[in-house]
Amino acid sequence: MTAGKLREAYISFFKKHGHREISSKSLFPENDPTVLFTTAGMHPLVPYLLGQEHPEGNRLVNCQPCIRTGDIDEVGDSTHLTFFEMLGNWSLRDYFKEEALSMSFEFLTSKNYLNLDPDRLAVTVFAGEESETGSIPKDNEAAEIWLKLGISAERIYFLPSEDNWWGPAGRTGPCGPDSEMFYDTGVAGCGDNCRPGGCSCGKYVEIWNNVFMQYNKTAEGQYQLLTHGCVDTGMGLERTIAVLNGKTSVFETEIFQGILQAISCATERDGQIQHVYGHTESPEDCSFRIIADHLRAGIMILGDPQGVAPSNLGQGYILRRLLRRAIRHGKNLNIQGIFLRPITEVVIAEMGSAYPNLHTRKDFILSEITREEERFIQTLHKGEQELQRVLQQIRNRSQEAILPGRLAFKLYDTYGFPLELTEEIIAEAGLKVDHEGFQKAFDKHREASRKGADKVFKGGLADHSEMTTAYHTATHLLHEALRQVLGDHVVQRGSNITADRMRFDFSHPRAVTKEETAKIELLVNEQIERNLSISYKTMRLNEAKASGARALFSEQYDEEVKVYSVGDFSLEVCGGPHVESTGVLGHFKIAKEQSSSQGVRRIKAILESKH
Ligand code: SER
Repeated sequence: MTAGKLREAYISFFKKHGHREISSKSLFPENDPTVLFTTAGMHPLVPYLLGQEHPEGNRLVNCQPCIRTGDIDEVGDSTHLTFFEMLGNWSLRDYFKEEALSMSFEFLTSKNYLNLDPDRLAVTVFAGEESETGSIPKDNEAAEIWLKLGISAERIYFLPSEDNWWGPAGRTGPCGPDSEMFYDTGVAGCGDNCRPGGCSCGKYVEIWNNVFMQYNKTAEGQYQLLTHGCVDTGMGLERTIAVLNGKTSVFETEIFQGILQAISCATERDGQIQHVYGHTESPEDCSFRIIADHLRAGIMILGDPQGVAPSNLGQGYILRRLLRRAIRHGKNLNIQGIFLRPITEVVIAEMGSAYPNLHTRKDFILSEITREEERFIQTLHKGEQELQRVLQQIRNRSQEAILPGRLAFKLYDTYGFPLELTEEIIAEAGLKVDHEGFQKAFDKHREASRKGADKVFKGGLADHSEMTTAYHTATHLLHEALRQVLGDHVVQRGSNITADRMRFDFSHPRAVTKEETAKIELLVNEQIERNLSISYKTMRLNEAKASGARALFSEQYDEEVKVYSVGDFSLEVCGGPHVESTGVLGHFKIAKEQSSSQGVRRIKAILESKH
């Protein structure tokens, strides 16, 4: 089974069961400031899970690229990936547990689909919980459905909320128990505590999760039972491919062979390949895995329809960290100089059929990766000078033959010096690194970056407050005003809304002048004064394009979309929500205009109340 075939099998199975395939969305969540990247297939669907109607109906399926950066320092072991693909199917107030679990079971075990041995499956269900604001019962319903389907009782594990509860997207909203499916790889296991979700010995591999959005969490913290719940499922593509091919690691699957070989080729010196990936825990193999994962993630970030270049900000910074970590690990494999370009070409060739943007943005991807390598090599050079300076100081000051851990960490963090490289250089001078101090500094940093990595702001898609809704509508006005004032080349490159302000990124080659800013503000405020009414029509994407509606057009199929019109002023494909008429928006003001990345400008704007 290959990734391509699994995508196809999953989508065709659910289409057969009445689902509509929807395009995958950008890795950059639209209008959700709570996270930097799309972290699950359900993420772009939050407004629909919360109650909005989806133009494609109430049974949906797709394959969504995702990035989770919380684990960035753990990549290198055989299971963690920062970039992965998630297959998912959704019921929007349509079918619920019985049908969802039956379909999952059929897809996993049917000879026409994954043909997994039902006796090798194990599942977890929610054990129930008492809380101060109310209790939530044990999910006996799910357990009984599993029993009926043929999973034996000793393979059904009841677990608490840490394992089997999916919280609301915001502070309040739909949430509920989930049921995870594991495959028993047949290895001996790790003893009494060996169980799905409870250990990481590799006996049980999680492949699929069914979330039952059964309750509404209120502001008071109570859980109200919903009459019509939603189902959200997510299957990890890479892990499932590993299981289906009897591999213990995703890096042993077909998905990674091309890239691992290309990395191997980069280690060639004098006609000799120095390193070949060997599926072990050796530092070299670990470097192979880090380069493979981080480069794939980096390529997907650059190749996204809203892709950004490396920078010191937000997604650009994560991209920089990923690329630099990959480059550093190239050094562990003794790779000399710039090496990522040919590996990148292999990845684009392999992934381009599923993600055609990688082809259209190929030049941008390649040039940005090479530029980052060049810049980083210079930084490494500066780091080497810094290290020599520190060494000199230590020699002058004392007989001490120890490099303080925090200095080694500074070299690691600021100049990208792998600890091993620092050790190698100072060993020549007869010094050693204070490992404990290094680890301390490293842990402190890791904790801070973990906290900051995925969560950035309060609010988000689940936040349907009046102000965020107003800002959504203001975004449409600004988008159109920018095109009228600056020209037709302006294309939306991203937007980010909180209850306090809006941010809008768009393509434009130079700074917006004061005069232009004033014109844009005036044009937007005129539309507010006109009190234009907002309405939407559902139509197919091709019709929307033909009608001249603005859109990011990241959709790949001619699917049903909502086209919002703001009076006669703007027409735009969007999921909503919006205010009813522009008069309620108040006064629109551009607070800041700055560069976001090369050729992309960023406007921050606010709505002030009219006095
Ligand atoms: N949202 C759930 C998950 O990410 C199911 O898709 O596991």
